[in-house]
Amino acid sequence: MKKIEPLYEGKAKKIWKTTDPNLLIAEFKDSLTAFDAQKKSSAKGKGALNCKISAYLFELLEKHGIKTHFVECISDNEMVIKKAQMIMIEVVVRNIATGSLTKRLGIPDGTVLPFALVEFYYKNDDLHDPLINDEHALILELVEHESELEELKRLGREINVVLKSFFDKAGLNLVDFKVEFGKDSEGNIILADEISPDSCRFWDKESGRKMDKDLFRHDLGDVKVAYAEVLQRIQKVIS
Ligand code: TMP
Ligand code: ASP
Repeated sequence: MKKIEPLYEGKAKKIWKTTDPNLLIAEFKDSLTAFDAQKKSSAKGKGALNCKISAYLFELLEKHGIKTHFVECISDNEMVIKKAQMIMIEVVVRNIATGSLTKRLGIPDGTVLPFALVEFYYKNDDLHDPLINDEHALILELVEHESELEELKRLGREINVVLKSFFDKAGLNLVDFKVEFGKDSEGNIILADEISPDSCRFWDKESGRKMDKDLFRHDLGDVKVAYAEVLQRIQKVIS
């Protein structure tokens, strides 16, 4: 299996076609963007950190019966993934209120939610990824059937249960995260994209220190130092 040509380039990853029609390569980039790419920077080595963190978390989720697109890492910042038809919905799961939830609903920052909140956002840069409900998703034909929305919610909650307890062992509160799904060649919904400190919020359990992309979004500290510590803590729990 060899890399052929780029298929798609996003803000944080470049996706390559390969000689195997069922497989792609995801190259994790060092670029950092926030607020619809209005704020841009890069951090050398960030791509490699996110690639490793995502690989560990995909493997962990697979062990818990959640199907993912992950196949294997082939370099510091590249992984082989299964080709999937992406579902244009960002599934956000929240345990603690912060970010856009506090802004939208006025829930005080840091409020522990009574249950994990699952939200859908329409993955559309031109529209700035708006929050949508099930009916919007059906009208926009983002899925074929209502049951698929129920499956996305169930998967979001299951992923949350696994990751929350894993990160608890790593001394981190999993505040919230965003996941994306695709359909594989047999029509199964599989977890795709990435799971990294770019797409999750982690707060240190003891100090409350932020260890995710909010450091970049709000100029609060060194992203690479924090991401490297997240990776180290993951490796410590796994070993
Ligand atoms: P939010 O509070 O800004 O809506 O973010 C919720 C979660 O989703 C948080 O963990 C960060 C993640 N996220 C992304 O991965 N990509 C995005 O474009 C946005 C806005 C949030
Ligand atoms: N991922 C989005 C961007 O690059 C927003 C964010 O994560 O804050 O603009």
